[in-house]
Amino acid sequence: MSRRRRVYEGKAKILYEGPEPGTLIQHFKDDATAFNKKKHDIVEGKGVLNNRISEYIFIKLGEIGIPTHFVKALNMREQLIREAEIIPLEIVVRNVVAGSLAERLGMEEGTQLPRSIVEFYYKADELDDPLVAEEHITAFGWATPQELDEVMALALRINDFMCGLFLGIGIRLVDFKIEFGRLIENEMIRIVLADEISPDSCRLWDIETNKKLDKDLFRRDLGNLVEAYQEVARRLGILVDPRPGDAKGPVLVQSN
Ligand code: TMP
Repeated sequence: MSRRRRVYEGKAKILYEGPEPGTLIQHFKDDATAFNKKKHDIVEGKGVLNNRISEYIFIKLGEIGIPTHFVKALNMREQLIREAEIIPLEIVVRNVVAGSLAERLGMEEGTQLPRSIVEFYYKADELDDPLVAEEHITAFGWATPQELDEVMALALRINDFMCGLFLGIGIRLVDFKIEFGRLIENEMIRIVLADEISPDSCRLWDIETNKKLDKDLFRRDLGNLVEAYQEVARRLGILVDPRPGDAKGPVLVQSN
């Protein structure tokens, strides 16, 4: 497909060398995986939707002062990002009991939490990304105590903003996973939001019906993933339906 140098290939994305030093091109694939790749499928159109949804959310977060790796949209599947050193943690923020929290503590899915909970998982596929405590993170040097404070504060700000964003379009933000990286800026290390935020990495339930609009549809074989992601994009105002008589299907609207 291209002569660009591939820097890294993950389950749902590929990173290519960018046009300038310190930049990368983040390419969204159509691969859907779950349970550390034990379940795998190609879901045509998913990459395009996730690229656009993630780009939209990163731009909005940038507008409220959250530092991110996002530079600009490139095309339907790719965005230009700043190369960051990824902190090897998956940060999960939860507002409602679901998924592994429901399983681990024997709680009912859908129970509103008394306050938002932030959890850390160590990024290690061979260990299935185990849940870890702050003590492990600082003792093993995955992040410093100062970095963890910063990560936690940013995660809660991102949660507040995204809860409001989704509430405004009739969606309950149940939980989500984010990742952060380190960037050198003016000889200082800066923590930035990295990776993606999309229906692959969030649980999104319709406020009225509790219908799932996220990757649990794939994980649990509950229905059509692309239709649900299109619904999220449509409500965010970034997927425009054709007018009656138009030959084309729904069209994603680029921001620039
Ligand atoms: P969990 O309930 O399975 O721990 O998932 C919590 C949130 O994190 C949920 O929104 C899905 C997201 N997530 C990922 O993005 N990647 C993963 O590998 C896992 C396990 C969860």
